[in-house]
Amino acid sequence: MDDALRLKLIGKRAASEIPDGAIVGLGTGSTADAMIAALGERVRDGLTVTGVATSDQTVAHARAHGIPLVSINDIDFLDLCIDGADEIDPHLNLVKGKGGALLYEKLVATGADRLIIIASAEKLVEQLGTRLPLPVEVVPFGHVHTQRAISELGLKPELRVNHEGTTFVTDGGHYIVDCESVGIDDPHSLATALKSITGVVEHGLFVGMAALVLTIDAEGVINEHVPRAND
Ligand code: A5P
Repeated sequence: MDDALRLKLIGKRAASEIPDGAIVGLGTGSTADAMIAALGERVRDGLTVTGVATSDQTVAHARAHGIPLVSINDIDFLDLCIDGADEIDPHLNLVKGKGGALLYEKLVATGADRLIIIASAEKLVEQLGTRLPLPVEVVPFGHVHTQRAISELGLKPELRVNHEGTTFVTDGGHYIVDCESVGIDDPHSLATALKSITGVVEHGLFVGMAALVLTIDAEGVINEHVPRAND
């Protein structure tokens, strides 16, 4: 099945999880965009929802699909958040941030009762850090020193650049360093270590946050993954 159709199917399935009246976090990326398009159809059919976007890109996309938005500062909590991911391990720990929106994504997901992740089955990995480098958001000031501190954790940070060769800047005005590793043995410890570095704003490890992961395989079959009892 082609990728466009797979996105449409998983987007529609995820949008069907949203109850009437919900306050919902809207993720960033192509998979989240497909969910937002499907949610727009439900809104046109009469569903009432309030969206909280995780990036400027998602604000524009949600508005184009007629989804009412509020700022995260205008609400106390979200019923759920639906977002994509770059890697998903067997414990449903995630790496996110390939699209550069990890900070706002984490802020919105943290405020939600339930985080639902949607992804193609290719994102399932045995160990995080083996498919893609781990994105870490850092403040521009002193970023070279921050990268040095990150490399002392056994990671190989590389400053993210745009296609034009200029430094990538997040919606929050920060830089991203993509950190190669030989695989992340202990995501929880690495998450704690990264957060303790002055200059690190946030990292793309989402540990123990997903309540449900929906994946779609090459044939278009959608599988549900929930955390195991001992996760
Ligand atoms: C954005 O910063 C990321 O966390 C995305 O959620 C992630 O990269 C998934 O994107 P796609 O759905 O485009 O693969």
